[in-house]
Amino acid sequence: MPGCIPLRRTQSLPTDHQSDVFSKATSIVHHWLSAHVNHGDYVVDATCGNGYDTVLLAELVGESGRVVAVDIQEAALARTRDRLVEAGLLARVSLKRMSHEHILDVLDPEEIQCAVFNLGYLPGADKRLVTAPNATVAAHEHLLSRLGPGGVIISTVYTGHAGGKEEAEALYVWATGLDGKQFAVARHEWVNLDGEPPHILIIHRRP
Ligand SMILES: C[S@@+](CC[C@H](N)C(=O)[O-])C[C@H]1O[C@@H](n2cnc3c(N)ncnc32)[C@H](O)[C@@H]1O
Repeated sequence: MPGCIPLRRTQSLPTDHQSDVFSKATSIVHHWLSAHVNHGDYVVDATCGNGYDTVLLAELVGESGRVVAVDIQEAALARTRDRLVEAGLLARVSLKRMSHEHILDVLDPEEIQCAVFNLGYLPGADKRLVTAPNATVAAHEHLLSRLGPGGVIISTVYTGHAGGKEEAEALYVWATGLDGKQFAVARHEWVNLDGEPPHILIIHRRP
């Protein structure tokens, strides 16, 4: 069908009618990453945490691609490294302990095709080590400046923890100000689930 984005399935994703893909943020994000990231791409995980997104990105970019994955916590980098070693994917990934607002310091000058954020705190770790509005917005802005045509930034945004709503608000104020001729910005929200399920913000640089 003209104008459709071709979806590419990976072995890690079951077909939609068998899966609960529409009720979990991770599933939706991974679905879009699988559709968008290609072999040879240069991509960023701006909050690697337990490493689930990093491992998927490393699978998707293939042997010729590269992933830069950062986190402020050594524990997160260790968990991500272990997962990558187990999957045999460590060679494709550069792991850095740093805050993501300094991401341009560690990127090669070329364009990136994708960046992923999963905001908030590392599950099972110190909840005070949490993403924060200024750094989150600055990191998005820096990564957007390196995003190639057709590239995408996908961010999972949590509002249920202390400071989460303020962070979401700061990010949305920035994102809604982006030029619609250059970028399509969309937000996915669940409207009928209990609690405060995360949102997913998608910023697509028009080709
Ligand atoms: C929800 S977790 C990420 C989960 C991860 N995407 C996964 O697949 O397991 C959020 C992570 O952001 C990290 N973080 C918090 N502030 C950060 C910052 N300024 N720069 C980079 N990472 C940060 C935390 O240490 C935590 O590991």
